[in-house]
Amino acid sequence: MSQPVNHQSVNTQVINRWYCSVCHEKIDADNKPEICPVCKADERMMIHRDDMPESLDQVRDMARKKLKGICAAYPFCDGNFDKICQKEAYGKPIGLGGAGQGYSFRANVQALAQVQLNMSVLGDHFEPNTKCSFLGIDLDLPVLASSTAGAQKYNDAIDETQFCMSVLKGAKEAGTIGLRGDTWFYTPEDNPSLKAMKACEGYGIPIFKPRSQDVLKRLIEQAEELNCKAVGIDLDGCGSTIMAAHGQPVFKKSIKEIEELVNFTKLPFIAKGIMLPDEAQKCMDSGVSVISVSNHGGRVLDSTPGVATILPLIRKKLGNSVTITADGGIRTGYDVLKMLALGADAVFLGRDIIRAAVGAGSLGVKLHFDHIRKTLKKAMFMTGARDIKMVNLNIIFKSE
Ligand SMILES: Cc1cc2nc3c(=O)[nH]c(=O)nc-3n(C[C@H](O)[C@H](O)[C@H](O)COP(=O)(O)O)c2cc1C
Repeated sequence: MSQPVNHQSVNTQVINRWYCSVCHEKIDADNKPEICPVCKADERMMIHRDDMPESLDQVRDMARKKLKGICAAYPFCDGNFDKICQKEAYGKPIGLGGAGQGYSFRANVQALAQVQLNMSVLGDHFEPNTKCSFLGIDLDLPVLASSTAGAQKYNDAIDETQFCMSVLKGAKEAGTIGLRGDTWFYTPEDNPSLKAMKACEGYGIPIFKPRSQDVLKRLIEQAEELNCKAVGIDLDGCGSTIMAAHGQPVFKKSIKEIEELVNFTKLPFIAKGIMLPDEAQKCMDSGVSVISVSNHGGRVLDSTPGVATILPLIRKKLGNSVTITADGGIRTGYDVLKMLALGADAVFLGRDIIRAAVGAGSLGVKLHFDHIRKTLKKAMFMTGARDIKMVNLNIIFKSE
C-alpha cells in the first residue's frame, strides 16, 4: 500500500524565498514580490535567497550591473580618465564623476595617497576602540554616510526614498548615522530624504541645498518635527544650475543668513562644503555646530585642492572648540584614520555608500561600514592608536 501524501507539508513547502534588502523582511513567494509588505520597497529591492550577497564584493558586483554605463564600481574609485564616470560631460549630467576634467575629484584621492602613516609595532597588545560621540550621538565608529541625492536617476535602479531609507537604516545597523542630501526633484512637499527620516524615526541628518531662507525654514521645521538629529546646508551647492532650471533656485549664503538659520533651529547645524580657513572661521563665529570640510566630492568646482590638504589648515585656524568633519576620496579605514589625524572629528563617505545602497539596500550599506570598521581597526592597531578620540598628527609620517 502506498503511503498517504502529507498535503500539509507539500503545501507549506517553501518554493522561493525573497528578501527585502531595505527592511530585511523575508517573503515566501513563487514570483518576485512587487512590493515588500512591511516597508513597501518595490521589486528592485528584492533579492532571491540564492543570490543573497555575503560579501561587499558581491554587493559591488550587484551595483556594477545596476549602474551600467554610469559607474563600474571599480576597485579604486579615483576619478581617473580611465573610469567611465570621468569625462567632460558637455552639459550632460555628471553621473558619479567630478566637475569639468575631474581635477578636484582626483585631488581628494591624491591628497590622501600622499599622507603616509607611521607603522608602530612595539608596546602592549590592544583592541582598538573606535567608539565616539558626534553631536552627542554615541557612534560605534566616526564614519557617517554622507549627504547624497539623485540615485533614482541612475538607470532607474532604485527608488529615491528607498535609497534614502537604505542609507539611513544601513548606517544605523552598522552603529553609525546617515546624512541625506537634496536635489532638483526634491521639494518641501515631496521630499524623499524627509520621508525616509520619518520611516527611520528621525535617526538621520538632512542636509538641504542653499535654497531661499523661507524654503529652508520650512524644511528645517519639518526636520524638527521628525526629531532629526541635526540639520545642515551644503553651502557649496550654491552654484547648481539644475536646481534653478527646475524652479528651485539656490543661492550663496551670507554669514547673516547662516546666523539666521542657526538661530532659527534648535537642532545642531552643519555648514557643509567649506574649503577656506577664513570662511570656516566665519561659519564657526556664526554659531554652527559642525564645519564640514568638503568640496562635494569634486563635483561643484574643478581644480580645488584635495580635502586632506585643506583640513589641517582649517583645524589649525579653528582650534579644538568646534566639530570638524571631512569627506572626499575616503575609501578605506586607512583613509579614515588619516583624516582623523589631520584634524577631523568624523568623516563622511559619499560614492561608496551610493554603490552599496544601489547594490543591496541597507544590507549593502551595513556591509560597507563593516568593511571600513575592519580596516580602520587594522590601521589603528598598526599605528599604535588605541582610541579613536586620541588620534593625532603623531601617526603621520614627516620627513625631517
Ligand atoms: C552622486 C552624488 C550626489 C551627491 N549629492 C549631494 C547632495 O545632495 N548634498 C550634499 O551635501 N552632497 C552631495 N554629494 C557630495 C557628498 O556628500 C560628498 O561630499 C562626496 O561624495 C564625498 O566624496 P566621495 O564621493 O569621494 O566619498 C553628492 C555626491 C555624489 C557622488
